[in-house]
Amino acid sequence: MKTLLLKSSVPLLIAFLLLFTACAQNDESRSKDTSPRPDSTLVIQAGKEIVTDAFAAISNALGTAMTRGGIPHAIEYCNTVAIILTDSVSNQYNVEVRRATHKPRNPKNRANDMEMASIEAYMQLISDGAELKPRLAFQENNVIFHAPLRLVTFTCLSCHGNKEDDIREGDLAVIQQYYPEDEAIGFDLDELRGIWSVTFPYEYFIAAEAADGASN
Ligand code: HEC
Repeated sequence: MKTLLLKSSVPLLIAFLLLFTACAQNDESRSKDTSPRPDSTLVIQAGKEIVTDAFAAISNALGTAMTRGGIPHAIEYCNTVAIILTDSVSNQYNVEVRRATHKPRNPKNRANDMEMASIEAYMQLISDGAELKPRLAFQENNVIFHAPLRLVTFTCLSCHGNKEDDIREGDLAVIQQYYPEDEAIGFDLDELRGIWSVTFPYEYFIAAEAADGASN
């Protein structure tokens, strides 16, 4: 009886030991906190998805505000909501999303050195008539994704276009009231307005892979 009990508990013991060593390994890799550098194609795919979502969120909010209360209301609305929207997309994906520009309306969106390098590179590509692809910068624990942000519709020009032809006088006054140091006018259709910048921690891609695996 005793031996039987012992015998039947052996597999249990092995299972227990395996589980324990597996956990121990896990703990070890977690404590090092060195998520591997993700593949560029994964980063580009995720970056494009997030930027599309963020652009849709801002365009929808802008469109609704313009229909409700015209351009002055939309300016006022943008003043309070644009950053909140990019922040909420950031929280939704657990990444940092921002719009950066060489000619800011909101000073918080002024490009830093790295962002400025991408803006200049895109400007050069536009003048060469070349394709504008996302740019990536791999850092120690995160990867930064940049994509061009252009003035795609005439609607954009009613707040970012030419003082003489595109922006109504009353609207310009509202812009200047909210943004006394505004630099974001004088743009043409399709011109580069700035860039989207998304910062992903490397962990993001581990979590995304795990979620993918679970859903398969
Ligand atoms: C109703 C006026 C209005 C229209 C139309 C408009 N914008 Fe803006 N835009 C603003 C305001 C106001 C801000 C500042 C938002 C803030 O305070 O964060 C802004 C900020 C931005 C920024 C962030 C950089 C900065 O200068 O602060 C980008 C990029 C931008 N707009 C692009 C566009 C594009 C592209 C379109 C067309 C799809 C567009 N805007 C249409 C009013 C407008």
